[in-house]
Amino acid sequence: MKTLNSVKDLKNLLTQERLKNKNIGFVPTMGALHDGHLSLVKHCVRENEVCVVSIFVNPTQFNDKNDLDAYPRTPEKDRTLLQTAGCNYLFAPSEKEMYPEPDTRTFNFGNLACVMEGEHRPGHFNGVAQIVSKLFNIIGPCKAYFGEKDFQQIAIIQQMVKSLHLNVQIIPCPTLREADGLAMSSRNQLLSDEQRRKAPLIAQTLKESATLATNKTVREVKDFVTNTLNKEPLLRVEYFEIANRHTFTPITCWTETTLPIGCIAVFCGNVRLIDNITYFVPQIQTN
Ligand code: PAJ
Repeated sequence: MKTLNSVKDLKNLLTQERLKNKNIGFVPTMGALHDGHLSLVKHCVRENEVCVVSIFVNPTQFNDKNDLDAYPRTPEKDRTLLQTAGCNYLFAPSEKEMYPEPDTRTFNFGNLACVMEGEHRPGHFNGVAQIVSKLFNIIGPCKAYFGEKDFQQIAIIQQMVKSLHLNVQIIPCPTLREADGLAMSSRNQLLSDEQRRKAPLIAQTLKESATLATNKTVREVKDFVTNTLNKEPLLRVEYFEIANRHTFTPITCWTETTLPIGCIAVFCGNVRLIDNITYFVPQIQTN
């Protein structure tokens, strides 16, 4: 595996790979890698001749300076993990390298960026689109891999690819979980032992809510999730929404859409965790 910090060096190497007709696959990350990230890398290695992974904690997608400062960084461990996973090129640029000048572009994602993560983290998706569009330009991948844990992020990236006519196929990959159900996340490292013991309640409650969906209304399921989690003193629900999985418009009735998605953000102390679940509700229902 080669590690590159400069855009120019990476572009030169990838141009040579393309001249040899090699397919390039790409996994963008912010590092502090865990098995969830590595599952994307494994997909990428399997499906492409060249696998590029980026590690860059992108300041423009953080709407809270403390959150950016606290974001975990484990560069040496990440390198070893990527090498073992079969990554060919690790791109780890500095902020100056990625933003030689301030990025003033604003993307308009309409409703997609106005609800849930978009509503609660203003500017977040604009920052994601800024960095991912730059990385796509530099790397020119045929395929790029994203995790369904960040379900709304995938929709944003797909819309960006469509509107900019980019030649990259977005491959969504399933969420990897710890044995107790907690969705793997770099932020899990920031949890105290006590918080770590309580955090799995998020996934467990979502899972239980899926069993209620066949005989409870959307409102009842939403209240069940929010109330169950808020009863735990270490957890505070920021939002829980059940929505159309394509438009992210919240639904009020199960028949409004097929396979609605429940998306949640919960504070566990100061650590903000997100997760989601798909509801398989038979469409004959009328409530
Ligand atoms: P980061 O949070 O590091 O995540 C990198 C990729 O790993 C994302 O596509 C994310 O959805 C995926 N991922 C995270 N946890 C996962 C899990 N438990 N199972 C499967 N996949 C998981 O998302 C970002 O970084 C940034 O916004 C980025 C796209 C890199 C732009 O800066």
